[in-house]
Amino acid sequence: MPVITCIDDLKRLHKRRAPKMFYDYCESGSWSEQTFRENTSDFHDLRLRQRVAVDMSDRSLKTRMIGQDVAMPVALAPVGLTGMQRADGEIKAARAAEAFGVPFTLSTMSICSIEDVAENTTKPFWFQLYTMKDQDYVRRLIERAKAANCSALVITLDLQILGQRHKDLKNGLSAPPKMTAKTIADLATRWSWGLEMLGTKRRSFGNIVGHVKDVEDTSSLSTWTSEQFDTRLDWKKIEEIKNMWGGKVILKGILDPEDAIMATKVGCDAIVVSNHGGRQLDGALSSIRMLDPVLQAVGGETEVFLDSGIRSGQDVLKAKAMGADGTMIGRAFVYGLGALGEDGVRQALEVIAKELDTSMALCGQRDINEVTRDILQIPEGFSGRWEA
Ligand code: GLV
Repeated sequence: MPVITCIDDLKRLHKRRAPKMFYDYCESGSWSEQTFRENTSDFHDLRLRQRVAVDMSDRSLKTRMIGQDVAMPVALAPVGLTGMQRADGEIKAARAAEAFGVPFTLSTMSICSIEDVAENTTKPFWFQLYTMKDQDYVRRLIERAKAANCSALVITLDLQILGQRHKDLKNGLSAPPKMTAKTIADLATRWSWGLEMLGTKRRSFGNIVGHVKDVEDTSSLSTWTSEQFDTRLDWKKIEEIKNMWGGKVILKGILDPEDAIMATKVGCDAIVVSNHGGRQLDGALSSIRMLDPVLQAVGGETEVFLDSGIRSGQDVLKAKAMGADGTMIGRAFVYGLGALGEDGVRQALEVIAKELDTSMALCGQRDINEVTRDILQIPEGFSGRWEA
């Protein structure tokens, strides 16, 4: 068994074990991938202040996100096609998150359905909604999430149309994969993935195949988005969805202070500062750079989470110190899943928790809730000095 010490170890294994098409889907940003790269590299520009001779006993990472107790300020982000990285991937990730004590978010574009995940877990999870043109379908989806006892609705705002990811087009991404000569050659080197996949029925988009009519190619993410996603989504519609749901709402995909103000006007329990992992608007600033301007705009009216770029416990610490109430990880847990299944997700969470705990202590802090910007060295102009 390889010794896993960092998220990159899991990423390397994921690359070896999952079909190229799905690894590439995870490991890509749109167009030039500038935003995808800077989401992680900008974290390196923030430095931590080493403090010494302080009592480091009785440390705690426990906190709350939207009023729910969490073992550390990290939730699993919604990730499409997770059940293609590993058979029944969403169930495995949800079970690992539950055991660790952090929230799991199921994507609308998942392979396992809402019901599959509910049947295989014991605690409520969060459900992420993409708004579709078919209003009846959206209504039914919301009813299904309520019936499954989901404890928050995460509405994604930054994907009414799909940013172009070159690798997905070149690989002919689909779920299940289409059996071209190239795919067959690739799958031939991924035996354990294939054997596990043969053992499950869950190989297409579980929340939508059979629930939505008139789709030309039910296996293609780009066809689903272009034919079904609601390009007319606006704040009024968001308010309607929020009322239809009636429970806790998290608005994900906010990168601009003006949008953050709109979100607080509509009302929500949290916003997620996110550029969709650099998969949508390439050229946008990284989430960590935009966090402070968004926090200033929101002024404590709602909780603020950060997503896009978190690959370590230090990244979580830096986001928390900048003022985020919590973080979301996507790729970091998917690497674990693709590498070692449910146990890999557990290991990803453990790697992050251990690094978060040790780094917090070395900054002279014992309680994650007490961590402030005081532990950071922030370069001048980090959050930008842009022309008005
Ligand atoms: C969303 O489903 C994505 O592929 O980014």
